[in-house]
Formats: sequence, structure tokens, C-alpha cells
Amino acid sequence: MRERFLDKKDGYNVAVVGATGAVGATMLEILAERDFPVAELMPVASSRSAGSAIEFKGKEYIVQDLETFDPSGVDIALFSAGGGTSKMHAPRFAAAGCYVVDNSSAWRMDDDIALVVPEVNPEALEMARDNKIIANPNCSTIQMVVALKPLHDAVPIDRVVVSTYQAVSGAGGKAMDELAKQTGQLLNSQSPEVNVFPARIAFNVIPHIDLFMDDGYTKEERKMMDETCKIMGADIAVTATTARVPVFYGHSEAVNITFGGPMNAERARMLLADAEGICVVDDPAGEDYPMPSEAAGTDPVWVGRIRDDHSCPNSLHLWVVADNVRKGAALNAVQIAEILIR
Ligand code: A2P
Repeated sequence: MRERFLDKKDGYNVAVVGATGAVGATMLEILAERDFPVAELMPVASSRSAGSAIEFKGKEYIVQDLETFDPSGVDIALFSAGGGTSKMHAPRFAAAGCYVVDNSSAWRMDDDIALVVPEVNPEALEMARDNKIIANPNCSTIQMVVALKPLHDAVPIDRVVVSTYQAVSGAGGKAMDELAKQTGQLLNSQSPEVNVFPARIAFNVIPHIDLFMDDGYTKEERKMMDETCKIMGADIAVTATTARVPVFYGHSEAVNITFGGPMNAERARMLLADAEGICVVDDPAGEDYPMPSEAAGTDPVWVGRIRDDHSCPNSLHLWVVADNVRKGAALNAVQIAEILIR
């Protein structure tokens, strides 16, 4: 048996950094739902919301300012307050002896930082024993690798071509407000205000998430390509097109997979049905398939439309949907915290 990450005790001191944000609020909800043994809860955010109150398990807690927050005595800090904030403050928490599970992209591709999806590569957590920082992967990547893993274990995957249809909650609370506001404005024949996204998101699809790079890909696409290989520990050829759609919660992905040996839809359906963290909903006759409207607020990665790609041998199509704020962010972080106290 492996050595524990944190000594056994009845409760752990947990800081949630970014507690007032969309992901932070869901982290609190999931800690409560899963009855995570919290001794002391410390909600932390910027000076803008320091002093305000948030609720956890029926009790009010005062939000503390990250700039002046002292991490001594914190066992686990769940960070979701942006990459710059993590770069600046996560090392300070780690130096105080606390495990940081960071939801930003700040540390993900560092060679000595664990990038972990508990259903896929929990063993990677070993890397965090010294540096104490663990990266939570990109939301679209998490749900895809959960679906790829059981298939790759059966027959190694050569190539993945993915197109995403990503919900606005992935861009935070202000982005959700923007979709709601623009929808109201357009339905009332007013001009929509564009502040958060690069273009109008209401009644639109924007093929642009995060910044463009010199090769014409966006950073979101690059994250999916690089993080998939790091998490799977395999040199898989991955290419991605990521788009933002006017959906509040739930990312959808059309995933095309080519295997290095024989694989077909029937076998894939059986492997996926038996896999941890996955629910298969795949009944064309009953017109049943995963959709964000049903995946939102749930924990599993939902997989459907499993079918052979007739254009290429040993190739399949999957349609993969998950709640991006839960499995794509907050739930994955709490699952990592659960391994740390196991
Ligand atoms: P605050 O409410 O004080 O701005 P979202 O992703 O939904 O936009 O939320 C972002 C979260 O990250 C919020 O809790 C926000 O706190 C927090 N945050 C953003 N910038 C900082 C910062 N510089 N220091 C601490 N927390 C920050």
C-alpha cells in the first residue's frame, strides 16, 4: 500500500481560493455533497469580495483576501482564481506545507507537476509529494480522457480528432451573465453588448476559445492536444477545434478515434459501459443520446452516438458530454483531494 499524502485525521483544513466564482462555488457545493471531512473551511477571493459571506453546510463563512491570507495550517487549497493568481500564490501555499489543487492552466504542462484525472492517472499524484502542487486539467480534456482511457487500455489509440461545443460557464460567472443579458437584449430588439467573449454569444457559435497562437490554433485547442498526451502517458496524435456555444452548463464533444488495432463500436460500447465515471446513453431507436440539458448538474461523463467510422479502418465516433463546472473542474479537484486524504 502507498504512503498517505496527508496524515489521517477527523477533518482537514480546506481553503477554496476563488470561492466567489462559478467553479469555486461548485467546489464548496461538492465538498458538502460528498461530505468531505472539513475541519475548518476558509473561503478566499480578491479584495473585491473579501468580507462578504458565503454559505457552507448551513453555516456562514467570511471571504478572506488572498493577498493577506496566511496559508499556515491549511491542509488542502483548491484554487480556481485564474492562472496569474495561481502563479503568484500557489507556491506560497505549497511552501507552507499545503497541497494545492489548481484549476488554472498555470502549471499543467510543467514536467514536474502532476496533471491528474482520478479515473485515468491517479498514480501521477506521486509527483506532488515534494512540490505539493497538482494541476487540474482543462475541462474539455478531462471529459475526453475519461472516455478515451478504457478504450486505449484495450487497444492503443493512434489518433484523435475532436470538435467541441463548449458552454459559457467555462469562461466564468461574467460570461454566463453575458449570455443571459444578450439573449434578453436580442429578444427585445436591442443591440447586444459584447464584453467577455470576442463576439456575440447569444444565438451564435464562436470558434475561438482562449488566445490564438502563431500556427492558427487557439490555446484551448493546444491544451486539449498537449494535456491529453500528458494525462494518458501516451504519444497520441490529437487535433482539436474548440467552439463556444450558447449553452450555460455542459460541454459536448464529437470525438473521432483511430486505434492501432482492431476495435469496433460494439466492443467500445461494452468497454465504456463498464468504465468508472462513465454513463453510456446510446439508443438511436429511442432517440436517446447525451445532451448538456441532461448532463448539467450531474457527475458522470456521458457517452453516446458510439458508431464505427466507415471512412477509416479501426475508427469510431463518440459523442461525449459532461458538466464542465463539475467533472470538468470542481468535482475533479475534489476527487483529487479525496485521494490526498485516503
Ligand atoms: P472575486 O469575486 O473577489 O473577484 P469566475 O471564474 O466565476 O469569474 O470567478 C473567479 C474567481 O477568482 C472569483 O472568486 C474571484 O474573486 C477570484 N479571483 C479573481 N482574481 C483574483 C485575485 N487576483 N485574487 C484572488 N481571487 C481572485
